[in-house]
Amino acid sequence: MKALRQIAGRHNLLIVEDNAQGIGARGDGFTVGQLSDTACTSFIIQKNLGCFGDGGAVLTNHENVDREIRKLRNHGSGKRSCHSMGYNSRLDDPQAGVLSAKLKHLDEWNALRRKWAARYSAGLRDAANIHLPYEAPGNCHIYHLYVIETKKPEHRESLLGFLTAHGIDAKCHYPIAIHQQEGYPWGKPARIAGPLPNSERNAACCVSLPMFPELTAEEVDCVVEKVLEWDRAAR
Ligand SMILES: Cc1ncc(COP(=O)(O)O)c(C=O)c1O
Repeated sequence: MKALRQIAGRHNLLIVEDNAQGIGARGDGFTVGQLSDTACTSFIIQKNLGCFGDGGAVLTNHENVDREIRKLRNHGSGKRSCHSMGYNSRLDDPQAGVLSAKLKHLDEWNALRRKWAARYSAGLRDAANIHLPYEAPGNCHIYHLYVIETKKPEHRESLLGFLTAHGIDAKCHYPIAIHQQEGYPWGKPARIAGPLPNSERNAACCVSLPMFPELTAEEVDCVVEKVLEWDRAAR
């Protein structure tokens, strides 16, 4: 983000940050959202701050962005009965109430996610066939997900299948890299300089282990035990 901020400053660009599921996370010396001009976030239920249905927000310090977004969310209306192009994207009052109540607990829930992530990382540190998530010095990851990667792409389905067969709700977020999605960039050939090996490797190898604040030590240990059992048998 620091490098992006510098590039944006040099070329007079605005940065729009996708901050869904990262609320409360920090980079080295800044919080998420702080170095962008506008941050978008999602409140769908599985996010680290989720409502009981659909919702989202746009955060900005720019007055003109604030004014335009408020209009866009309300049928393009900044003044009663006057409309321009817009959407019906208001956050329902009940959802706002749920979010206000949950927001008070967010720091505590993020801390619990970090606690379970540390327990996973300690338990799995000697596994030979997987990579663990890495937190760069000075950063604070809030582990919306705890994502490991199999070292070999051909191991991913085997690990997922093994965990699922033992009743563990492991998932894959996400098996297709964004630049390989049909909708990117909206019907035109992707304007990228070459392959994106890190994104492609992650899409081929990622496995998300169960992660939510209400996990228990026994549940985390049970998942660790099963991953290690798979790891010993994997070749
Ligand atoms: C990083 C990220 N951005 C955006 C979205 C989209 O959120 P919504 O469906 O609320 O628009 C998601 C949801 O899964 C997400 O994970």
